Amino acid sequence: MSVQPKPVPMPPVIPRRGVRIAGTGSALPSRVVSNDDLAGVIDTTDEWIVQRTGIRTRHVCDPKKGESNLTLCTEALRRALAKAGMQASDLDLIICGTITQDMRCPSTACLVAAELKAGTAAAWDLGAACCGFVYSLNAAHDLIRVGTHKAIGVIGADTVSVLVDYTNRGVCILFGDAAGAAVLTATDDASKGCLAQVNHADGTGWRDLFQPAWDVQIAPGADRTMVRPGCLQMNGREIYRFAVGTFQELIAETLAKAGLTPQDVDHFVCHQSNLRILEAARERFGIPAEKMYVNIDRVGNSSAGSVPLCFDEMRSKGMVREGQIVMFLGFGAGLTWASSVWRV
Ligand code: UT7
Repeated sequence: MSVQPKPVPMPPVIPRRGVRIAGTGSALPSRVVSNDDLAGVIDTTDEWIVQRTGIRTRHVCDPKKGESNLTLCTEALRRALAKAGMQASDLDLIICGTITQDMRCPSTACLVAAELKAGTAAAWDLGAACCGFVYSLNAAHDLIRVGTHKAIGVIGADTVSVLVDYTNRGVCILFGDAAGAAVLTATDDASKGCLAQVNHADGTGWRDLFQPAWDVQIAPGADRTMVRPGCLQMNGREIYRFAVGTFQELIAETLAKAGLTPQDVDHFVCHQSNLRILEAARERFGIPAEKMYVNIDRVGNSSAGSVPLCFDEMRSKGMVREGQIVMFLGFGAGLTWASSVWRV
């Protein structure tokens, strides 16, 4: 009698499915810090900051009011779920892109899941600085597309105020605190979802923007009167150069990958690092101002919070319509840069 070989287990066939952004939300801390407030404590002026960065105010957490990275993340996802008409228990995964966790362990995503009663949904943090939301969005999209998960809460949030040395005028003027979130769900409409994504990093550039945890990590040649362990250290000119070039290459690479022209894209939702960096890209690609949302004047650079905060504000203002093409773009410490172009 011949023995039949055991059938080899095969991975499941991936059904063709779309991914929908079912809801978005965001949260800003209550305290607003103006350029004049900063000029009261460091050697700077409103004029210098506006001219070099486009920033006029930023929001900063007030620990006395109980505001923190966790409270912002929780509120942003709570609002995104409400817009989606869903409960946290409907989610099977929460990803939180952040580098400023209140606690290193457990993850912020686990704490948000507990706050919102997400049951046993998986939860993890993703550390990619200003790219945190776009990396997380791409990962979440693909997990739904292949059928591993059905509904994912994606948060991008940072409270960089906890890392900033407020005597370092080259750094403290830039950053604000914010969180944004999107709820992604599977849909039978396969035309919806990410059309193309780009994810890159170059760790050799880490010294241009980093947080030295202790003295030995301070880069050789750094001005030690300006650098404090635990506080963000930035080579502003180098990051500016990286951001201007990389941001434009990223747009070009994403368009090419998706087979789109700049005119095909309805909205460019960009990390708000510096108004001059955004303007340079807008000019190069001939993007009209109304297609590139800007809120850096009000909220500064909020790292991973920046892209989802912009998108939520745009949706709240009724700027984003069903079926439009939206390109999300992030770049920052790592160095990291990433994009995601969607039919929403
Ligand atoms: O999300 C990514 C994170 N970071 C960024 O995107 C930041 C990218 N970099 C930048 O946006 C710009 O480099 C800054 C806005 C940070 C600085 O602008 P800059 O035009 O590159 O200024 P700089 O660093 O070349 O400094 C020019 C001068 C210096 O004085 P000296 O040496 O020429 O006398 C600085 O000391 O401006 C001085 N300076 C300031 N003056 C008034 C630096 N910061 C300030 C300030 N107020 N806040």
